[in-house]
Amino acid sequence: MSTYLPTSNGEIHYCDYNDVVDHPMVFIHGFPLDQTSWDNQVSFFKKSNRVITYDLMGLGHSKFSYPTVTIDSHVDDLIHLMNHLHLDKLHLVGLSMGGYIALRAVLKHSDRFHSVVLANTKAEGDDNKAKANRFEQIDQLKLNGTSSFTKSILTKLLSPNYREKYFNETEQLSRIIALQSITGLNANLIAMASRFDHTLDLRTIKTPTLVISALNDEIISQENSATLKNNIVNAESVTLEDSGHLSNLEQPVGFNAAIKSFLNRRN
Ligand code: MLT
Repeated sequence: MSTYLPTSNGEIHYCDYNDVVDHPMVFIHGFPLDQTSWDNQVSFFKKSNRVITYDLMGLGHSKFSYPTVTIDSHVDDLIHLMNHLHLDKLHLVGLSMGGYIALRAVLKHSDRFHSVVLANTKAEGDDNKAKANRFEQIDQLKLNGTSSFTKSILTKLLSPNYREKYFNETEQLSRIIALQSITGLNANLIAMASRFDHTLDLRTIKTPTLVISALNDEIISQENSATLKNNIVNAESVTLEDSGHLSNLEQPVGFNAAIKSFLNRRN
């Protein structure tokens, strides 16, 4: 069921797949995507879990009525959605920017999560070079709109192999990105540039954690993933070979199996 939930800064567009009512999971997508990027996970997990996906504020069909977002306002939206659905505690999955939000959520509200999957993401904040890249992307959007931004970001999100082999899927993703609003993209670029560095906080996390990385990820290095795995006490990790940054799209079978096996050992 797809619906809208009003918040203090707009309306969250979410889907609640509740044929199975137990073992709820929430999936948080990356930038500059929307909840449809989880389609392969929804069809797999909805057979055994209640599954919730949503569009982050400023992206997809969420209605963005306030000019800024932060990683913290995304966490507030997540908690608001969980409260609205009467979900006290659940399994959280976040990929990339979704992982920045999931990590911050677990640090701020550890009692609300049974477990967390941090996929293709990191604890480090943006250094000056990364911030400058975001500001260049903002300039690029102002000058040229979404089309050249879409082309250049796609080459970082998806591996050359995938782009060549899965032309239709790549085109579909490119359409999703090109349709995003420039204000929503800018707001989320600034949210990522201004996020906290959580490297030194990782040791406080007790929530069971699965770290998923991909060998050909151009955005998140193996060192970034090792920092998560080595500093979170209760963490395990899986590396997907033959995948770029969006490992849930490029390797859905391996991605889903890694989470399923992690959850089975926890239920
Ligand atoms: C994402 O996939 O969410 C972003 O590429 C992450 C980032 O730019 O830091």
